[in-house]
Amino acid sequence: VKRQAPAADRNKAPIAEVLERVLPERGTVLEIASGTGQHAVFFARRFPRLVWQPSDLGDENVASIRAWIAQEKLENVCEPLALDVTRDEWAVSAADAVICINMVHIAPWRACLGLLDGAARLLRSGAPLLLYGPYKFAGEHTAPSNVAFDTRLRSEDPEWGVRDADEIVREAERRGIAFQEKVAMPANNFTLVFRRSTLGR
Ligand SMILES: C[S@@+](CC[C@H](N)C(=O)[O-])C[C@H]1O[C@@H](n2cnc3c(N)ncnc32)[C@H](O)[C@@H]1O
Repeated sequence: VKRQAPAADRNKAPIAEVLERVLPERGTVLEIASGTGQHAVFFARRFPRLVWQPSDLGDENVASIRAWIAQEKLENVCEPLALDVTRDEWAVSAADAVICINMVHIAPWRACLGLLDGAARLLRSGAPLLLYGPYKFAGEHTAPSNVAFDTRLRSEDPEWGVRDADEIVREAERRGIAFQEKVAMPANNFTLVFRRSTLGR
């Protein structure tokens, strides 16, 4: 049941450095699209004062996440939730941070919008939303390898593809989630940092 993704092994340490700076000291972090569960256990160990709430769409992923948690015997990771961002009902009512790694390009655009809708509902004022992945900016890819990746994604599923960060920012801001910064990450990826605005939508 326990699965392992090489990309998650490579990006977990650089992502943790951004988290260290951006996440609150205490509270619950909702991880959307946790995948294998590697990130959840790595981050929970790294940030013992936070409570990690992993989630994913499919039963297979939820089982893998559960297997990682059982192996690592961590007390600050919750039972993984089955959570589809495109559905209105999320089994969580509040979070002190939301993080989503490598989902937005491997899902239809409506999944990105669903993620933003959910984050707007859940996040307390000032709480961060972090998105990690490859992005275009002002319609331009940041590297030739991302052009090839985008083509490959779209050939696998025409609804997938590397998204334009500017469009994500526009949709976030319409929902009362303010863009704060982009952090360049290894392998032509970025972390986009947003915060739920204090003034509502
Ligand atoms: C490339 S994997 C990334 C997994 C993990 N975050 C990582 O970085 O290793 C993409 C993930 O997005 C999840 N996903 C796709 N559509 C989703 C949706 N509508 N709601 C929640 N998760 C979704 C998939 O189940 C899959 O686990």
